[in-house]
Amino acid sequence: ESTTEIDVSAIEPGQAIKAVFRKQPLFVRRLTPQEIAAADAVDAGSLRDPQTLAERTKEGHLDMLVTMGVCTHLGCVPLGAAEGEVRGEFGGYFCPCHGSHYDTAARIRKGPAPSNLLVPDYEFTSDTTILVG
Ligand code: FES
Repeated sequence: ESTTEIDVSAIEPGQAIKAVFRKQPLFVRRLTPQEIAAADAVDAGSLRDPQTLAERTKEGHLDMLVTMGVCTHLGCVPLGAAEGEVRGEFGGYFCPCHGSHYDTAARIRKGPAPSNLLVPDYEFTSDTTILVG
């Protein structure tokens, strides 16, 4: 099983990068304080796939959202990780294939996708480096 090491030090708040993990797209996004607040303002229990932002990030790194870039509907790559791409009605990611909208915690909020963007196994190996897998 392969792992992928990613330097996250250059990702500014509000930016994301696309990487590759086991031949699939991986999104690493540094949330702004406003995006964190937006995610935390939602009653997670009311969501289709109930999870809090804290449950989807690592302790002490609430601003670093690491997910697969694979829509949980039929596997398209959602928009929102590259500069200037639309992020959908909830400011996270948007899958243009059939219109799934993900919020700033990459949780499914509208459209046909059944579940949140998958958070892979990963850990911080330093304050600026994560090891995925
Ligand atoms: Fe993303 Fe269908 S594959 S909405």
